[in-house]
Amino acid sequence: MVTLKSHAEIEKMRAAGQIVRETLDLLGEHVKPGVTTRHLDALAYEYITSHHAYPSFLHYEGYPASVCASVNEMVVHGIPGSRKLKEGDIISLDVGAVLDGYHGDAARTFAVGEISPENARLIEVTRECFFKAVEVMTEGHRLSDIAAAVQQHAESHGYSVVRALTGHGIGREMHEDPQVPNFVTSGLGMRLKNGMVLAVEPMINLGTWQVKFLDDGWGVVTRDGKNSAHYENTVAITENGPQILTL
Ligand code: MF3
Ligand code: CO
Repeated sequence: MVTLKSHAEIEKMRAAGQIVRETLDLLGEHVKPGVTTRHLDALAYEYITSHHAYPSFLHYEGYPASVCASVNEMVVHGIPGSRKLKEGDIISLDVGAVLDGYHGDAARTFAVGEISPENARLIEVTRECFFKAVEVMTEGHRLSDIAAAVQQHAESHGYSVVRALTGHGIGREMHEDPQVPNFVTSGLGMRLKNGMVLAVEPMINLGTWQVKFLDDGWGVVTRDGKNSAHYENTVAITENGPQILTL
């Protein structure tokens, strides 16, 4: 069931979204060679809880951490641990926070020190895919327009779009209907309406779109081992156009 949000609810989600964005900014400052993903997770927990919010991911279906930290060929849902970041790695950090009953969810992919031009381009195009999607996030467009915008932009650069995972509605729950695919499926998809709030999250691979699920029950990696990038924001569709609540 898709729930439409009132103006007051969207303002609450903007407040949650602001904490998510600030957390990502903080983490970005700490991404450097030698830092463990567990350290980044601890910083996020501390920042979110000290701002009277709670990390949405912690204990979600048993997830053991506050953020997802996905390095290189890991697409999403990397569990933070003792792995140390190395010069040239890319790391996607995904953060959720719930404040006053409403969630915000966003992800960025960061460079660890100097990275290759190929990786830098992947990160940039993944970000652009998100903004292509935002252009069609107005009432009357369809979910399939979001999918087409992301897929077209990624594939025009020779990249592929992950299909096993999608974006999602968000609000009182972190994951609400509808699913928001980043690739075109059969059918037109639901019409977008003012009051819908969606987490739009392109996951873009250098090589194949196919992925594998790790034995830890969470991690998702590319099947060919090539790198993947992720960029996500929580976006409200309103009569004044799309509003990005986590920027
Ligand atoms: N941000 C992720 C998403 O958009 C959720 C992370 S899964 C969790 O679907 F278990 F870590 F919460
Ligand atoms: Co999400």
